[in-house]
Amino acid sequence: MKTASRHQPSRYHPVLVSLHWLMAVLILAALAVGFFVLAAMENADPRKIAVLRWHMAGGMLILALMIIRLVVRLLAARPAPANRLAPIVHYGFYLLVVVMAGTGFATALAAGLPEIVFAGSGAPLPKSFAAYPTFQAHFWLATLLAGFIVLHVGAALYHHLVQRDGLLRRMGFGRRVPGALTRAATIHRSAS
Ligand code: HEM
Ligand code: HEM
Repeated sequence: MKTASRHQPSRYHPVLVSLHWLMAVLILAALAVGFFVLAAMENADPRKIAVLRWHMAGGMLILALMIIRLVVRLLAARPAPANRLAPIVHYGFYLLVVVMAGTGFATALAAGLPEIVFAGSGAPLPKSFAAYPTFQAHFWLATLLAGFIVLHVGAALYHHLVQRDGLLRRMGFGRRVPGALTRAATIHRSAS
């Protein structure tokens, strides 16, 4: 039996909870804008610059929030992992989001987008982004990130609806008491 339960609260820190849900919306929006709007638009389309402005600014905001979130996560106590796969997926999210923003930023720099998109230089966008290796990485990492999200949401709903262990409540607001709120955390602790 661990004495660490005092350090393993029933829920995530409220700052992490707020950031989790805000960032879930922002990341899903960045993916949707990328796959369904940007990818479907010719670079010659004059409306593309405005969409890129939102995508690039939103992406940098996501990066800044993710770094704040990582610092809070390292400082604040959090519930015990529900299983062995969960920490891999959770840290995978941090890594993927940072590398996504990095490859997006690198593509923007290589293609001279800051001047075109934010400074209104009037220069045209490059014919296509496909020739930039950083863009290829951006695309494949976005696909991987979408896969991680499907896995993560599927696992959260499986715990909540099938196992009925109340896992979703760990990512909700409420009193943070020491020890397990969910059956998943109890199982983890008694197994270790
Ligand atoms: C976590 C944050 C981000 C996500 C999830 C994301 C996602 C995506 C996706 C799904 C695409 C479409 C890929 C395709 O063409 O199929 C895309 C395109 C692009 N992204 Fe991002 N992105 C993010 C951050 C950024 C940042 C920070 C920048 C630049 C500062 C950026 C710049 C671009 C550019 C230049 C494109 C090419 C537009 C095109 O498809 O024609 N992205 N992004
Ligand atoms: C873009 C979408 C999402 C991302 C990037 C994401 C990322 C994360 C990360 C990194 C954690 C670990 C805690 C932390 O470090 O803050 C986490 C926990 C959690 N997420 Fe998400 N999440 C997303 C969407 C969702 C959605 C839509 C749901 C609801 C169905 C959900 C439910 C949960 C739950 C219940 C936990 C706690 C799991 C546990 O304690 O093991 N997430 N999420």
